[in-house]
This record gives sequence, C-alpha cells and structure tokens, in this order.
Amino acid sequence: KKIALAYSGGLDTSVILAWLKETYGVPVVAFVADVGQNEDLAAVREKALATGADEVVVADVREEFVRDYVFPALAAHAVYEGSYLLGTALARPVIAKALVAAARATGCDAIAHGATGKGNDQVRFELTVAALAPELGIIAPWRTWSFVGRRDLLAYAEQHGIPTPVTAEKPYSTDANAMHISYEGGVLEDPWQAPPEGMFQWTTDPEKAPDEPAFVEIAFERGRPVAIDGEALSPFRLLERANALGARHGIGRVDIVENRFIGLKSRGVYETPGATLLMQAHRAVESLTLDREVAHFKETLGLKFAELVYNGFWFSPEMELLRATLTHTQRNVTGTARLKLYKGAAYVVGRKSPVGLYNAEAVSFETRPQVAPADAGGFIAIHSLRLRQQARLSSEDSAG
Ligand code: ARG
Ligand code: SIN
Repeated sequence: KKIALAYSGGLDTSVILAWLKETYGVPVVAFVADVGQNEDLAAVREKALATGADEVVVADVREEFVRDYVFPALAAHAVYEGSYLLGTALARPVIAKALVAAARATGCDAIAHGATGKGNDQVRFELTVAALAPELGIIAPWRTWSFVGRRDLLAYAEQHGIPTPVTAEKPYSTDANAMHISYEGGVLEDPWQAPPEGMFQWTTDPEKAPDEPAFVEIAFERGRPVAIDGEALSPFRLLERANALGARHGIGRVDIVENRFIGLKSRGVYETPGATLLMQAHRAVESLTLDREVAHFKETLGLKFAELVYNGFWFSPEMELLRATLTHTQRNVTGTARLKLYKGAAYVVGRKSPVGLYNAEAVSFETRPQVAPADAGGFIAIHSLRLRQQARLSSEDSAG
C-alpha cells in the first residue's frame, strides 16, 4: 500500500522512484539518510518531490554512524582482506535501520533500494531489514525490471520527464560518507588500469603533499577517540577533523581487488584518510594497555568482525556476541598517541597512558631483573627441550 525508498537523488534511485509509482500505483516515501556524504540535502528533497515522491524523510544519522558503527570497527581493527576499512559496509546497516524507522513512521509496508543484483549492498540492506523488521516487504528493482544499464535508465528518465544530471557523468561510480569515498566500476573495471588523473576527491596526491610533516595527538577513552590535539570533539566532528588532517597529507588511499560476498571479484579504490589515522593511533594506545594474550586473541576477532560487516551481518546474534567481547577488551584502552603525517603515511612517534601495563623500570636494560636470572634460564631450557629432540632426529635422518 505504501513504499519507502532509500533515495539518493542520483539517476538510479530517481528512475526507481518513478518506476515504483508506475508499477505499483501506490504512494512512495523518499528516504534520504545523511551519513556525512556532504551533499545539498535540501536540493535532494526538492528533486525527490519533483520526481513524484509523495513524502520525503531526511534523517541525520551522522553522529550515530560514527559513534556506533565506525568507532567500534576502528577499535576492532576491522580491515577486510588486508586493506579495506569498510566505509560503505558500515554505513549500510545504519541507513537501513533509519529507513526501517521511516517506513514504520509513515505507515509503509515495504521498502525499496537501488543496489544492483551483482553487489554486496543489496545483501546488506536486505539482511538488516530482515533482522529489524521482518514484516516489511522488500523491492529490489535492479533484480526484477528489464533495464540493463545506464542507457536504459536515461531513456526512461527522458520519457518520464525525470531531471537527469547536467554535469558530465564520471567514468566510475562513487559512494561517499563521513568515513570514506569509494570508487568502482567503469574505467576501474580493468584492474591493470591505474585510477584516472583527478579521481580522488579528498586526499592530496602524496607526491604533492606538504614538504613539512604535521604532528597530531589523538586521545582515546575506553577505546574510543575523544580528542584531537587536546580538543574534545563529538564522534562525527572528530572524524571530520581527522579526515582533514589525513587528506592534506595524502593518507588513506587504497586500491584493491576484493571478494564480494556474492561470489564476484571486484576492483575497488578507496580514500579513508581520517579512519586510517585513527586506527593507527588506536593500535598504539592498545600496545601499552592490552594484555598480550588478549591482544593476540583480539586480532582474530577483528578478522571475524570485518567479515561479518562486509557480508551484511551487523545485526546478527554472532555480531552481538563479538561486540560485547570487544567492548570488554577496551576497558583500559585509554591514552594518547602522537602521530607524524608525511607524504601519504602516518608514523606513530609517541604513546602514553595513565593505565598502561608498560613498565619502563621492568624492561630496562639498566635495571636488575624482577625474576631471578636462573628462572629465565629455566624458561629457555624448557622451551628448547623439544627443539633439541627435533634437531637430534633431523641429524640422524641426514646421517642415515
Ligand atoms: N566494494 C565496497 C563494498 O562492498 C564498496 C561498495 C560501494 N557501493 C556503492 N553503491 N557504490 O563495501
Ligand atoms: C551495487 O552493486 O549496488 C554496488 C556495489 C556493491 O554493492 O558491492
């Protein structure tokens, strides 16, 4: 009877909006989430109305996104396949959650989205909706209509008087939020081809970054960044500040071929300046404050966390378990890291913590050991026992 559409104002979701009205003959609510993509949302609202939306709902989820999704992922050191910091994957559940709330508030019985049938985003949207609002129907036009590509969309838009972008279309597709910008498709589909000149929207080319390094201090409380250079900032503002610093020095560019959950390999290019800095700073504070075995165990949890986020299982029982465990590990992750930013890289140059486990006195080469030297000798003797056995066996082998 009524559909809530995750709407961005781009060509795809504009066509979907008109197509839904034509196909289903019911009112459509255009839902726009502000995740820090830095767009003129008043203009997006106008465009939705001009394209035939019956209602428009704009939700500002910037603080929620950074506080409840980005920061926990940073503390988990969640990195997919060694490089991707999950900027898009983290935004999908918060958008879908707000979409569900808007659908309920406006009396919709179904939601629709503009993700294609080949990607991860369709999975993330739909798993989130299933977990939060199993009663809502889901419409994924890209999997049902007969349009194939951009040309079909432009033709439909022209027939239906849908305003299309006047600016020259970029030869790749992007997705931006407070954490990152992603670039995929088009000219990037050839994994041998370097990104086109001028593609990166945030970061300075490292070669053109300032010749003078910058120094920045990032303070953490219980694993969450709380201040930059002594200034306390809200999560969104703090990430914004970190982005500006990192971008200026060309930090956080990544170019990879990744495995989509759906089973396809895809080439993705990302710029994630602020989160890259913050994760490095977080590691430095953890290095002083986490027990060795907890730290090592936590590394394995970070891999699992990244996989769950990437695959769309933010709202799942296993993620709940993981989140609770990771939160527990962050109880003492309080302290400050000092970074040097220089031509595309960030270097940790200092770290301190009021609750650190680091004991300069104990580790110093200049002081007496806390355990008797004979105990350290015994520790080595025990550990070398099986290595000696192995070495004897190997020398017998080679002799025989
Ligand atoms: N490949 C990345 C991911 O799966 C980025 C996806 C970008 N999505 C988009 N609609 N442009 O998380
Ligand atoms: C899409 O297919 O809509 C974008 C790419 C992705 O979701 O992985």
